[in-house]
Amino acid sequence: MEIKEMQQEIIRLKKEKDVCILAHSYQSKEIIEVADFTGDSFKLSVDATKVNAKNVLMCGVRFMAETAKILSPEKTVYLANPQAGCPMAEQMDVEMIEAVKAANPDYTVVAYINTTSALKTVCDVCVTSASAVKIVNAIDNKNILFIPDCNLGDYVSKQCPDKNIKLLQGGCPIHARVTKEDVQKAKKLYPNAKFLVHPECVPSVVAQADFVGSTTAIMKYAMESEAKEFIIGTEISITDHLSYECPDKIFHSLSKDLICPNMKSTTLGDVYHALLGHCGEEIVLDDYTMTKAKACIDKMIELG
Ligand code: 13P
Ligand code: SF4
Repeated sequence: MEIKEMQQEIIRLKKEKDVCILAHSYQSKEIIEVADFTGDSFKLSVDATKVNAKNVLMCGVRFMAETAKILSPEKTVYLANPQAGCPMAEQMDVEMIEAVKAANPDYTVVAYINTTSALKTVCDVCVTSASAVKIVNAIDNKNILFIPDCNLGDYVSKQCPDKNIKLLQGGCPIHARVTKEDVQKAKKLYPNAKFLVHPECVPSVVAQADFVGSTTAIMKYAMESEAKEFIIGTEISITDHLSYECPDKIFHSLSKDLICPNMKSTTLGDVYHALLGHCGEEIVLDDYTMTKAKACIDKMIELG
């Protein structure tokens, strides 16, 4: 089947089956085109609460589908490709964090939304890259244990100098891959370009940026900026989407290695077959996980 034909079938099937499609901005253009909501992790988690449809199909990674389920327990939530996980979300487990908490009882545990729902049950409040600084500043405790991303955590601690932030060794293997030498090379090649970066990159990369933000914030900045040329320091799909959205501007990816195979593992065919009931996985969480993880996400929405 041709892409256009498959997209038309998807649009017909989602109406017929009362399905709302959520797609993270790292998904391919052909998936973004059939989605009802697109954006960064924070936007998707809020959009999930506003959805009227009985069913939700998440095109992204597992923790995003779990978040949608926790926020919309009455809906049936599916993950389009059950193999799509986020390695960072699975880096730390409940036992490990319980042990760190026991050794640091005065700390508020802040979990990046890129964590499993099981891990969220032992954390106090969630953040996303878009909301982390605001939420950490709003927490009524100086002592913060920030998990799992030490790069985002480092960025937050620089923006929140009044807080005492403890970090553990976790992070996104894709964003952490790019180096300050990659930035120097790109800046030499494109001296007039503005450098926009995701805070999941290492501190020496983030330090050289003209703008630091979530995927949505990077896209908004580039679209609204007077500048005509940009180096994009996040997953390569953002460079592709921006090139498509702003044909009068030039976008360079910071590195060809900025490709998340997990995000890329969902195809338009997966979306189509999930709507036909041939693939995809329904997200089922036990009551304890739903309640405890929801408290952590609700706190984020309250403080954000
Ligand atoms: P945001 O969507 O919060 O910008 O995060 C990027 C990411 O790595 C998602 O997995
Ligand atoms: Fe996880 Fe990084 Fe991929 Fe995002 S880009 S899904 S944080 S591995």
